[in-house]
Amino acid sequence: MAEVNGVDLRQDKPHSARIYDYLMGGKDFYEVDRLAADQIETAIPDVRLVARENRKFMNRAVRYLAENGVRQFLDIGTGIPTEPNLHQVVQTVAPESRVVYVDNDPIVLAHARALLSGTPEGRTQYVHADLTAPNTIVESSELRETLDLSQPVALSLIAIAHFVPGAQIYDIVRTLLAALAPGSYLVMTHLTADFDAETVAKTVASYQANEIPIEARSEEQVARFLENLELVEPGLIQFHKWRNDGIETPKSYDTRIPGWGLVARKP
Ligand SMILES: C[S@@+](CC[C@H](N)C(=O)[O-])C[C@H]1O[C@@H](n2cnc3c(N)ncnc32)[C@H](O)[C@@H]1O
Repeated sequence: MAEVNGVDLRQDKPHSARIYDYLMGGKDFYEVDRLAADQIETAIPDVRLVARENRKFMNRAVRYLAENGVRQFLDIGTGIPTEPNLHQVVQTVAPESRVVYVDNDPIVLAHARALLSGTPEGRTQYVHADLTAPNTIVESSELRETLDLSQPVALSLIAIAHFVPGAQIYDIVRTLLAALAPGSYLVMTHLTADFDAETVAKTVASYQANEIPIEARSEEQVARFLENLELVEPGLIQFHKWRNDGIETPKSYDTRIPGWGLVARKP
């Protein structure tokens, strides 16, 4: 049994972080993950494109926030390090930026060192925790020592909220945002069946067949995360279109990218 800090890596069972790493062309996956990823790719042949566009959204969104004065970031569902990581993007704009990464997968913990090599002026920290325990995250000493919660923080939930099915996700996000100061932001991407219901139904079924709970949410369901928040332009939109630096993406992406993206401000 392979362990990290006493936590079993569970190489017998596919994990979303390792599947994503495989699809992004990484090296940190096991045979079970590759088999699951192959099933997912059969369901959604564009999955690698979707993963790349999702990652590009993350880069654009956090760079935008750094350029607009945000200096603290809380990234939950970080994944296995993939360059450029969030801290590298924001510290390029503002070297003093502070970033706390959170994931519940021991494989991410095993690679956390790569997430902690930020600029000397800034700080990065890693918290091994679960999104479904938001109080544990906001009360953790590592987070409190790194982020000043009296100042704005960008909370990023990129390609993670769909892994928490049911209505509990709304309370979780509300709890996290309640701990953050006015002027904070929510940054999110989320799987949706709004643009290609058949492909996404097959995608959901292939994750579920691999015992990874997942729920696609509609535009209306994703808009519920925006309660008491101000949407940043261009609003709730497919993530490949969000401030895409004027680069035209092929028209076919409008049905091939099954994800909403948003950036919103807590007033
Ligand atoms: C698809 S990856 C996204 C990685 C990265 N955010 C990105 O978009 O490039 C989803 C990540 O969320 C993590 N994750 C899933 N459910 C989680 C939970 N309940 N608590 C913490 N992390 C979770 C997985 O371990 C994985 O690393």
